Amino acid sequence: MRRTHTCGELRAPDAGQRVVLQGWLHRRRDHGKLIFVDLRDRYGLVQVVFNPERASEAHRVAGNARPEFVLEVEGEVAHRPSGTENPGLETGDVEVLVDKVLVLNPSLPLPFGVADEAEVDEQLRLRYRYIDLRRPDMAANLTLRHRVAKYIRDFLDGRGFLEIETPILVNSTPEGARDYLVPSRLHHGQFYALPQSPQQFKQLLMVAGVDRYFQIAHCFRDEDLRADRQPEFTQLDLEMSFVDQDDILKLSEALFAGLTESLTDFQVETPFARLTYREAIDRYGTDKPDLRFGLEIRDLSDIAGDSGFQVFRAAVAGGGAVRALTVPGAAEYSRRQIGDLEELARSWGAGGLAWAAFQGENVRSSFAKNLDPSELGRIRERTAVGEGDLLLVVAGERETTATILGRLRVELGRRLGLIDDRRMVYAFITEFPYFERDQAGGITFVHHPFTQPREEDVSLIERDPLVVRAKAYDLVCNGVELSSGSIRIHQRDVQEAVFRALGLTVDQIERRFGHMLRAFEFGAPPHGGIAFGFDRVVMLLAGEQNIREVIAFPKNQSALDLMMGAPSAVEESQLRELGLSVHPPDSSAAGGA
Ligand code: AMO
Repeated sequence: MRRTHTCGELRAPDAGQRVVLQGWLHRRRDHGKLIFVDLRDRYGLVQVVFNPERASEAHRVAGNARPEFVLEVEGEVAHRPSGTENPGLETGDVEVLVDKVLVLNPSLPLPFGVADEAEVDEQLRLRYRYIDLRRPDMAANLTLRHRVAKYIRDFLDGRGFLEIETPILVNSTPEGARDYLVPSRLHHGQFYALPQSPQQFKQLLMVAGVDRYFQIAHCFRDEDLRADRQPEFTQLDLEMSFVDQDDILKLSEALFAGLTESLTDFQVETPFARLTYREAIDRYGTDKPDLRFGLEIRDLSDIAGDSGFQVFRAAVAGGGAVRALTVPGAAEYSRRQIGDLEELARSWGAGGLAWAAFQGENVRSSFAKNLDPSELGRIRERTAVGEGDLLLVVAGERETTATILGRLRVELGRRLGLIDDRRMVYAFITEFPYFERDQAGGITFVHHPFTQPREEDVSLIERDPLVVRAKAYDLVCNGVELSSGSIRIHQRDVQEAVFRALGLTVDQIERRFGHMLRAFEFGAPPHGGIAFGFDRVVMLLAGEQNIREVIAFPKNQSALDLMMGAPSAVEESQLRELGLSVHPPDSSAAGGA
């Protein structure tokens, strides 16, 4: 290798050394006689100086060089003249006095500047991702991602886990999303599905006696995209035999507390909170609560159910709820500000937003005049609303009232500056319901159908599925769902009961899951596991808001790879080989390119 050092490496004690550096021209400053160039690579920046009296040819070449030219410079390390040191730069005490320069490759004018701090349109960044990834923030994210993976591998290796790859061309495994399908050339009319997760394989590895498995696994889900969703994403997937829920949660806690402490400056508190699903919904209106701040939701249904306010009475009489949120110090909100909150609540499905502002003797309120003083007193006590606070109340269907207040809670937490972004507050959510109604009114699973129901609920699987609780758990952090996991079914009869509750016929069960049922009959050990959204983990640890910032080559929101131009049409001959023909694109279909 020609280069003697990287661009981030030189320090004061290196002064006097002869060096060869290679890197990109990050910035150039022409000071008449002297030309200063910041030379950059992944490791950092170093100032190199072209002086015509020292090397006139090198000075001439530097004068013509442009941003992102790839240069090789040879010269001598020197202390910067006193007063010109740059404490903001790790190499800021030194500079390289150049004797020779080679342009290893020029660059066209750039679609956007690597050195600019300015916000660049994301579509442009994705199209030229190889330039975008040169930006120091992005290089730092790639580095962090590598370190997180390395930490995980070392941590799990130290605890006896084996890293095992599972196939990508598989059969459908239900995780609640649409499959990506791959047509088979050898078996026309038949398709592989790309894995939504390695779920069935990791369970079969437990049957195989592997005992402790993990994989940093690619998963594929054809679903609508959001800031924390990609069609192709990565899981840290793991599975263990002979464990119960507590073993998995303890391992997860040690891993995440360790990761956060070792690789970031975030504050992390242990032990992680544990909330049941019911508690999370009732107190925070979501199963992924942001616990960096309080603002808990309170249930007023028992008080409001026979109050003088018809809206409250009707909600409770109809099987619904009345819930409230105390907003500290917001009593002085204007009608307009409260109106804005009501607008938000309505856009999320609320029938309205009742409110009461407590300032001295004076209670301004949309509903208090309908209550007698003792009812209002009980509500004040229940909600701990005090002088100067604003009470927001939503009446309606049980889950909806919680969800709406949960969203208002997050919005107000942000607006009131209650969220301390130096903290990572992890929590486990447990006791999820097993089943829920799907949009068509049928029964579907909440986690996935391989999850063990709680023992006391097994007899209810087919009789009363909606009350069955699952041995399932999530790890959440700062309002983001980081992972899901569960203890698994390892008995054929329980697994069949779950499939029947989901409405599968004997024939469908055999066709889709016969291999799992058979495996359970050949000595399957009790087992359980969890999978973490690896991109989301890195996103949080990097302090980013979007997983695309921590994925080298992500898809855009329409699932397009703008750099490679995927998806794309294929040759007619390729289709023929696969036994496929393509209908003209349906203009009404969603997501067309
Ligand atoms: P689940 O479907 O909850 O569980 O996925 C686990 C975690 O993966 C992340 N995740 C995603 N990240 C980015 N883009 C997506 N489209 C996406 N979908 C999911 C989330 C989620 O919590 N087999 C089970 C796990 C198990 O039971 O062990 C599973 O896949 O952070």
